[in-house]
Formats: sequence, C-alpha cells, structure tokens
Amino acid sequence: TEPLKIAVAGLGTVGASTVKLLTEKAELIRQRTGRRVEVVAVSARSRGKDRGVDLSTFRWFDDPVAMAADGGADVVVELIGGSEGPARRTVETALETGRHVVTANKALIAHHGTALAKAAEGRGLSLAFEASVAGGIPIIKGLREGLAANDITEVHGILNGTCNYILTEMRRTGRDFADVLAEAQALGYAEADPSFDIDGVDAAHKLAVLTAVAFGCPVDFANVHVEGIRHVSAVDFDYADQLGYRIKLLGIARRLDGGVEQRVHPCMVPKDTPIAAVDGVFNAVVAQGDFVQRVVFVGRGAGAGPTASAVVADIVDIARGCRTATFGVPVDRLSRLEPLPMSAR
Ligand code: NDP
Ligand code: HSE
Repeated sequence: TEPLKIAVAGLGTVGASTVKLLTEKAELIRQRTGRRVEVVAVSARSRGKDRGVDLSTFRWFDDPVAMAADGGADVVVELIGGSEGPARRTVETALETGRHVVTANKALIAHHGTALAKAAEGRGLSLAFEASVAGGIPIIKGLREGLAANDITEVHGILNGTCNYILTEMRRTGRDFADVLAEAQALGYAEADPSFDIDGVDAAHKLAVLTAVAFGCPVDFANVHVEGIRHVSAVDFDYADQLGYRIKLLGIARRLDGGVEQRVHPCMVPKDTPIAAVDGVFNAVVAQGDFVQRVVFVGRGAGAGPTASAVVADIVDIARGCRTATFGVPVDRLSRLEPLPMSAR
C-alpha cells in the first residue's frame, strides 16, 4: 500500500507537536492502520525558527496555499488558525485540489463549516476537526460515532482551557487575572488573540461546532449568545463558595421544540456535580442522549500534546479509510433548527 502523505500548515504549539507525534509514533500508526503515514511538506512564516523537531527531510513552503495545491500530499493539516486569511485559503485549496483536510481550527469551522463540509463531501473527501473542540477529548467522535444511536437533547460543558485555568487559579490562589492569563499564554493554551478566550468567543466557536454534530444541523455561530469572564472578580468566588457553587464558563446547547438554544456565559455550578471538580486546563462535556442518558467526557482541553493527539486521530481515521459525513448527517440533509432565545433557567 502507498504511504499516506501529509502536509502540515502551521508549526506552532499544535503543528510542531503534530509533526513530533507523527514522527515518534510512525511505527505504531503503521501497525494500527496497515499503512505508513509520512509527513512530506511543511509551512510556517519563519523558516529559521527552532521548533524542537527535525524538519530537514520535508519540503518547505513559505506559502501554505501553494503547499496545499502543490505539496504532493493526500492530507493537508491546517494548524495556522483564524477564520479567514491563509487558514481558510489553505483549506479551500486543499479541498479544491482533491486532498483530505484535518484542522484544529474551530473559528474556521464555526464560520465556514457547512460550506466546507459541502465542498468536502461533494468530492468524497474528509474534513476532520476532532482537535477543534475540547483539545485531547475525543468529543466529536464521541458524539458523532459513539452516540450515533441517540437523539441528543442537550450538550454543555467547559470548552475553554484558558478560561478554566484562569478561574481555577484566581479561586485557589487569589492570583491576578492578568498574571494567570500570561501564564496560560506561555503554556501554549491561549489563542493568538487571547481576547477570543476571555471574551467567550473561542468557547462559542466550539459550541457552534458541537451543536452541529450533536443535533445534525448547520453550524450557526451567529446565533450563539456570548459572554466571557472579564467581569468575574475575587468576591464572586467567595460568594459562590459560601453558597456551595463553583464559577465555570460554560457552553450550553439545548434542543427545544424544533429549535436550538446556544449560549456561553459564566455559570454557578453546584459543587457536587462532576464538572464543578474539573479544574485548570481540563475541559468537560456533558451530553444527554435518550438511550444512553447522561455521558461526561473529561480531559485536557488545550496544549501541545493533547491537541496533537486529536489531530493525529483524524489522520489515522483517513489512513484506515474511514469516511463519515462531516457532522454525522450528510451536509445536504442537515435539519434547519430555528435559533431560540436564551430561556430563563
Ligand atoms: P500558534 O500561534 O502557536 O501557531 C500558528 C502557526 O501558524 C505558526 O507556526 C505560524 O508560523 C503559522 N502561520 C501563521 N500565519 C501563517 C502564514 N500566513 N503562512 C504560514 N504559516 C503561518 O497556534 P497554535 O498552534 O496554538 O494553534 C493552531 C490552531 O490550533 C488554531 O486554530 C488554534 O485555535 C487551534 N488549537 C490550539 C490549541 C492549543 O492548545 N494551542 C488547542 C486546540 C486548537 P510561525 O511559527 O513561523 O510564526
Ligand atoms: N485557546 C483554547 C483554549 C485552545 O484555551 O481552550 C484549545 O482550543
């Protein structure tokens, strides 16, 4: 069997770790897929930067779009970030030239997921984005494959590692918001523009993607209600604690009477619930299905290793020849659900 050829666009926190994982686990992946998976080309902005991985045997491209078109890959892995610009053009070009796409880019899928899925499915290609939601937790596969036999009524959870890290450290140690954010950035958890994390936008991107997968509807980021954690202060933690709660930034999607409600905001979570104990960079997703009932997924929601683990899981699926409709339902059969205003609860 021919090797599966991979081009990696973006060699930052996630990209460098993905190349490292593919290199170190090449034999394990060959055993599990029956096929060699080889990186053939890479692209980033600065060629000279030390990324802690050997890139010398790969073709280098300054332009990821040129790499998507001419890099000789079967799969283009987009790890640049952003809903527009080079990330979007790289993914569109890869699909137009007949290559599968794997991405960790929730902004891109939240804004353009339905159109990109149409482009991929129309050509018999995979558009895979396991790493885009909840880092190392296999939540896309968990909902789409693992819970495929259920009608899902609600999905909610902690979807941003940076915010959960900040809320945890502020509560436990009384540290200053700005200091903890700087630490989360140094650890590689935060977005290139960290206001996406702290203003709830990143969690809203992820919620829009989860909603599409959970309910089989088009991605509808425009109708997510979004509030972040900028206004949470030390006194809030004290009051919450005295009343028996933890403060968590949650994303909540509920299916109600032909519509769907999507919201992201800080919540008071009772201390005796599983997600109240999910601290630091960990994420958690709770899904409610009619036959399975309640399922809770917990794991690291950001960072190099966990995210690369999810990226490579998608590459392994492609090497195994697995083809699943992007959001679980073929894109032309996704059901249009009316956006519902936030309910009082
Ligand atoms: P980084 O900022 O660490 O890396 C971005 C990479 O893209 C860099 O290598 C950069 O090059 C490259 N890049 C930027 N612009 C261009 C361009 N015009 N042409 C070519 N290369 C370009 O980001 P992350 O690795 O943290 O994130 C990547 C993606 O993964 C994003 O979509 C993010 O949302 C997502 N993600 C991140 C997680 C995390 O924990 N960090 C977790 C889950 C998802 P250079 O290095 O030369 O500057
Ligand atoms: N900035 C994101 C977070 C990365 O902190 O959760 C993972 O998607």
